[in-house]
Amino acid sequence: MASRKPLIAGNWKMFKTCPEAETTSRQLVERVGDVSSVDIMIAPPFTALAVVSKAIEGSSMELGAQNLYWEKEGAFTGEVSAPMIASAGCRYVIIGHSERRQFFGETDAGVNKKIQAAFEASLIPVVCVGETEPERDSGKTFSVLDKQIQEGLKDLNLNTSNPPVIAYEPVWAIGTGKTAQPEQAQEAHAYIRKLISQGFGDELASAIRILYGGSVKPGNIAELMALPDIDGALVGGASLKPETFSEIIHYRT
Ligand code: PGA
Repeated sequence: MASRKPLIAGNWKMFKTCPEAETTSRQLVERVGDVSSVDIMIAPPFTALAVVSKAIEGSSMELGAQNLYWEKEGAFTGEVSAPMIASAGCRYVIIGHSERRQFFGETDAGVNKKIQAAFEASLIPVVCVGETEPERDSGKTFSVLDKQIQEGLKDLNLNTSNPPVIAYEPVWAIGTGKTAQPEQAQEAHAYIRKLISQGFGDELASAIRILYGGSVKPGNIAELMALPDIDGALVGGASLKPETFSEIIHYRT
């Protein structure tokens, strides 16, 4: 098995005011701020990046944003660029989350530009892919992943010292309490790794971290992490509470 360091990432989505984000991140620092066996990232809303950055300073936790716009600056009211995110203290940025694809019309071509912009600002993109329930039911899971990976990563130079992270998040498992069966998750992760190997070579395929996302909680994390191609988790709902998120981070104990 490859020696990829696990990444446990929390996606806070559109939750938490600045004071709430500060309290939660301080509590997380107390619980997991010295953990070094896994990488930890939290992605608060843009408004709370600065307070969370300050609260986690000096701990092993790292900061991520939930989205970016690919232009560096300009007349794009309401958007936030990669250099802005980096200057707020972020190391990671989530790109192409299914909620962005579903509610805000994001496309694989847009995802591709966003990943490029993240690289240019030395951010590590966490690129989300995954099929909907009707797509799975009609046997299209692999063809959906093919398209998302091939078009999303098209023409990018991925053999960098900070390769991107992929998050496999079956849309039907997000926020629903339905987790993919371990064998379904492993099958999809192995397939994604094969696509990376075909498109970018074996070296990147064995180095890239593929996270699972969709109703991850303290009760199912250990089983998921035991699978050979699962290198971490992107956690939504269960990352909002320090108790549950820290239990997930301590999945080995
Ligand atoms: P969930 O969300 O853990 O609440 O299912 C995961 C995600 O959307 O990243």
